[in-house]
Amino acid sequence: MALFDLIFKNATLVNHQGIFEADLGIRDGKIADIGKMGSAAGAVIDCTGLHILPGVIDTQVHFREPGAEHKEDLRSGSLSAVMGGVTSVFEMPNTNPLTVTKEAFDDKISRAVNSMHCDFAFYVGGTHENTGQLAVLEKLPGCAGVKVFMGSSTGSLLVPDDDGVAAILNSISRRAAFHSEDEYRLEERKHLRVEGDPASHPVWRDVEAALKSTKRLVGLARAAGKRIHVLHISTAEEMMFLSGHKDIASVEVTPHHLTLDDSAYKSLGSLVQMNPPVRSLAHQKGIWAGVENGVADILGSDHAPHTLEEKAEDYPNSPSGMTGVQTLVPIMLDHVNNGRLSLQRFADLTSAGPNRLFGITGKGRLAVGYDADLTIVDLKRTQTITNDWIASKSGWTPYDGKKVTGWPVGTIVRGRKVMWEGELVEKSVGQPISFFDGLETRPSLLN
Ligand code: DOR
Repeated sequence: MALFDLIFKNATLVNHQGIFEADLGIRDGKIADIGKMGSAAGAVIDCTGLHILPGVIDTQVHFREPGAEHKEDLRSGSLSAVMGGVTSVFEMPNTNPLTVTKEAFDDKISRAVNSMHCDFAFYVGGTHENTGQLAVLEKLPGCAGVKVFMGSSTGSLLVPDDDGVAAILNSISRRAAFHSEDEYRLEERKHLRVEGDPASHPVWRDVEAALKSTKRLVGLARAAGKRIHVLHISTAEEMMFLSGHKDIASVEVTPHHLTLDDSAYKSLGSLVQMNPPVRSLAHQKGIWAGVENGVADILGSDHAPHTLEEKAEDYPNSPSGMTGVQTLVPIMLDHVNNGRLSLQRFADLTSAGPNRLFGITGKGRLAVGYDADLTIVDLKRTQTITNDWIASKSGWTPYDGKKVTGWPVGTIVRGRKVMWEGELVEKSVGQPISFFDGLETRPSLLN
């Protein structure tokens, strides 16, 4: 009799126990056993030479549906995710309509269920107008929490003022996520943008704009007695500052801020234009220091697709954002191979970190009883990242032509083999993620 639905045999597992050889038995979409086991299963997958990581949770993606489906939609964005080894995503609210009401949120969930290829949660945008509803919205099933733009970026979400941010913090209970750039300073410095020169992007959106906003935010959070998540840290100074506020502030870093630097504006132009900007090597080094010393909690891709035609517009009309959900795993495994971080630290940033900060139930650990969400990688495989490989509708990556070592081989979502060796095996299994702080656990209310 089959004890398990599926056994992954002879793998090297990466989890809270360390890195060790074992088999993994799956039953009913959950991890049922870890250790040496026979072959009493519906199916056995030999993973000799492969590492199994807890499924990678990308806690910051923009999938553009509804409103800008020519750039991306929930299906294409999630296809890009699973092709890159990502098993779950948190999607951002700067869509059109903005995800700022229950109707808009429910609409996203119903579009996503069994249509997305990976599991998902959606952020609700915090605004001046919906502050009074956020305490309810943040607890909707499948909600990752509240996201606030303190500086303007793609879309119209914006709460630039202390009173607005304080009111939001005072009305919610969960950890909210912040795009932290000081809007007033950005407005004052707009004249510093040089037409046709995206290298002026970090001059306009400078270090002080990010640091000033982050200092204001931490002060406001402390006054409100609330936890905050500071997204996509782009400066060494913020990393230093936030190291003094770990009791309330969690920190996200991105692959692009860890991999690219301002020399890329010359070769890639507006393709590296991002908010907050890619900056000098000294800042990149400061962000790596936060990875090494533990100040950084989470790695998110900030996947923000725009079409090549849109990106080809003259700066500053070119939109900010680049793809990233599919390249997160290979880019970071290449850093692992280059000795920049350990495989365990990578898992900490992409699964244990999200689990811990956001109170995800049943995901983020390779442990018995948890969802069988697995990212299976070949650490030794050298492959070149190309635009052709990118499943995002926008069809490009700033890493086109980059040779990396370390590659995602399989993406398993709740025990289902969704991607294997670059092929989509099983379609559209996506379900909402549930949270300890949410009102309802799976299965979703909405079916
Ligand atoms: O560069 C960015 N693009 N930063 C953001 O904060 C938003 C994103 C987008 O949605 O395009």
